Amino acid sequence: MAQQWRAQTPGSPENWTFAEIEVPEPGPGEVTVRVHAAGVNPADAKHVAAPRPGVIFPVPIGYELSGEVTAVGPDAVGGSGPLTVGDEVVAFRVQGGYATELTLPARDAFAKPAALSHAEAANLLLAGTTAAEMIQVTRTTAGETVLLHAASGAVGVSLLQQARALGIRVIGTVGPDADDSAARVRKFGGLPVAYGDGLTERVLEAAGGAPIAAAWDAAGTDEALAVSLALVAERDRIVTIVSPQHAETHGILWIAGARPESARFRDIARARVLELAASGDLEVPVARTYPLADAPEAVRFVMQGHPGGKVALLS
Ligand SMILES: NC(=O)c1ccc[n+]([C@@H]2O[C@H](COP(=O)([O-])OP(=O)(O)OC[C@H]3O[C@@H](n4cnc5c(N)ncnc54)[C@H](OP(=O)(O)O)[C@@H]3O)[C@@H](O)[C@H]2O)c1
Repeated sequence: MAQQWRAQTPGSPENWTFAEIEVPEPGPGEVTVRVHAAGVNPADAKHVAAPRPGVIFPVPIGYELSGEVTAVGPDAVGGSGPLTVGDEVVAFRVQGGYATELTLPARDAFAKPAALSHAEAANLLLAGTTAAEMIQVTRTTAGETVLLHAASGAVGVSLLQQARALGIRVIGTVGPDADDSAARVRKFGGLPVAYGDGLTERVLEAAGGAPIAAAWDAAGTDEALAVSLALVAERDRIVTIVSPQHAETHGILWIAGARPESARFRDIARARVLELAASGDLEVPVARTYPLADAPEAVRFVMQGHPGGKVALLS
């Protein structure tokens, strides 16, 4: 028997249950993974907070994990090649990663980069592939200067590192009193500026005369929208991952993992993100770990909006 967190009905993490589950033997094209760490993302709570079209409850929680293969089904081939029992893997996108063991499609399990701990690896791919898609849809290229809202967050920090690898210059917003956020942005090659009144002027000063070619919004605030619109000439070079309303009203881009075109891009982007991590060019700062049994507390910590790094559930 294994254990898994599930939302039985729409609602907050307090209503989730930590249930005993029977883990099925892997069928054709599947593997079973003993989970060592599950990545915690804001989407884990957001997606089950209220009824959503096409979502049938109960919903197993958690989109990404890192662990060890315990069984391999017939004809199962991993995302990065053949898998055998004992292999350390990272898996994304899964359903129900907040578990002690999970059977999943083998194509979604990849060799874990040795340089990453399980807590880091479990948090690499959701943020990493989102960041890769933000760069791609805004057509950003080497030498350009980009404005990044919420630069110190999980997606922000991945964007900073992927942009650095591509030669893109990033000005990133951080909390006005958040010295640790600013330090994190600098560490990963960005120029931090405080969000809040006067943001447009601070960004222009940091840009030093360079045009702001694109904006990446991981904050979703009205301020992020207004400043992006004021500074970026082309609306289809502004992307938000938080506010579909802003996209609809103002003609900017919105992407989300649940959209088929995003899912297709991100599935392909997994290999590149793993490669960057394996070569040491993409770190995953982890702020805290919690025992799997304390998942609701871990999720609450992330949802307060300033976690200061990723959070992993260990089992
Ligand atoms: N659409 C998608 O595919 C997709 C994928 C991944 C994530 N997301 C969404 O993107 C958002 C960020 O995710 P994450 O995992 O990076 O979050 P995170 O690690 O929890 O970080 C939150 C970030 O928000 C910043 N922030 C908080 N209040 C802000 C404000 N008023 N103005 C500007 N920035 C503010 C924080 O900066 P300071 O701490 O410096 O204040 C921090 O950098 C979440 O809403 C998440 O649901 C969407």
